[in-house]
Amino acid sequence: MSYGLTDEQRMFQNTVRRLAQEKVAPRAAEIDATGEFPWDMVELFRDNGLIGVGMPESVGGGGADLLTFCLAVEEVARVCATSSLIIAAQHLGAMPILVAGTPEQKARFIPVVASGEHLSAFALTEPEAGSDAGGTKTRAVRDGDHYRINGTKVFITNGGIAKTIVVFASTAPEKGIRGISAFVVDGDQSGVSVGRIEKKMGIRGSQTAMLNFDDVVVHQDRRLGEEGDGFKIAMRTLDRTRPGIAAQALGIAQGALDVGRAHVQTRKQFGQNLSEFEAIQFMLADMQTQIEASRQLLYKAAEVVETAGFAAQSSQEVTRYSAMAKLMCSDTAMRVTTDAVQLLGGYGYVQDYPAERMMRDAKITQIYEGTNQVQRLVIFRNMSSEGI
Ligand code: CAA
Repeated sequence: MSYGLTDEQRMFQNTVRRLAQEKVAPRAAEIDATGEFPWDMVELFRDNGLIGVGMPESVGGGGADLLTFCLAVEEVARVCATSSLIIAAQHLGAMPILVAGTPEQKARFIPVVASGEHLSAFALTEPEAGSDAGGTKTRAVRDGDHYRINGTKVFITNGGIAKTIVVFASTAPEKGIRGISAFVVDGDQSGVSVGRIEKKMGIRGSQTAMLNFDDVVVHQDRRLGEEGDGFKIAMRTLDRTRPGIAAQALGIAQGALDVGRAHVQTRKQFGQNLSEFEAIQFMLADMQTQIEASRQLLYKAAEVVETAGFAAQSSQEVTRYSAMAKLMCSDTAMRVTTDAVQLLGGYGYVQDYPAERMMRDAKITQIYEGTNQVQRLVIFRNMSSEGI
């Protein structure tokens, strides 16, 4: 089935699918079991041009459109969610620079991220600013041509291993949301330190950490946009990256259906394969239907967001489609992976089979890059302002 993909996109999808099956799938269970960051996967994605696939060619990226980027994330997530997050998180860390950086800043900061020489991170979340991202307490105080950044960020994907970090900090606390600014910080620089590294339910090979900023001095040429633009830069970033999380969720769901389907075709009970029971066939039909509906919404969202480009202000449609795709694909991933565990019965509950890992991995897609409650809020506000 083509889902409206171009010939080129289909060829790309097949190439990534083969690579994922041959090189990523054999590592998935081990990555989950050890919880160690899979540097070999970074190497694999670097060598195959996937790490910066959705970044513009002019700054060293693969130049792929958003749908093609989503295909890469989806195909890798189908076998290993942690590995797919390497590609999605790299895109997220680069995005504030792509949407708000000057041509000089893009030329300076993106090529090392696009090539995978640096991993990147998006440091927005704080102990008291999760869904309420505007509650940022981290401070950036002007000191001549520089700023001094002090504060703590939590739940940062690639925290401690990313060298290019976009940090959101308040330059004018009295202005609230309108006082937040964005800075590109070097992960190796003095004053940046790693706090707790989280032990997680899923995506266990991805490093999620607390980052401390203790009098971190950054030159003003590392500020993205104007002072006070930070919150909008964060929102415009997420509008363009939530489809990547939707693609990850969709890939996890498809992978779980693959596993469940294969199991019921060989597992015999009461003298016949499980797949011959109508109860099982109906479950498979529901899983397939939910996946197809989610895929169509994601591909539509990717098209809408792609049309807006990197630099444009988000239109209401971009924000809405991005949130709807993330919401629907992640809810589908949770339902489908839970059903896959059920299809495998006792085998679904043990670690020798991949279904339980997929179910644990699926859960985060309903939480990060905005909880699904935040997505619903965004969609409803957007409907109201558009008069839908
Ligand atoms: N694009 C551009 N501007 C936007 C925007 C968008 N999509 N959304 C809002 N804005 C603007 C508004 O127009 C408003 O502008 P003015 O000041 O000019 O009026 C301003 O931003 C404030 O907007 P709101 O009043 O809507 O802000 P709010 O505080 O009510 O709520 C929210 C905003 C939607 C709840 C937002 O805080 C949000 O999305 N929260 C979730 C944050 C999130 O996704 N965190 C994930 C962290 S990253 C992560 O998880 C990644 C990982 O590790 C993998």
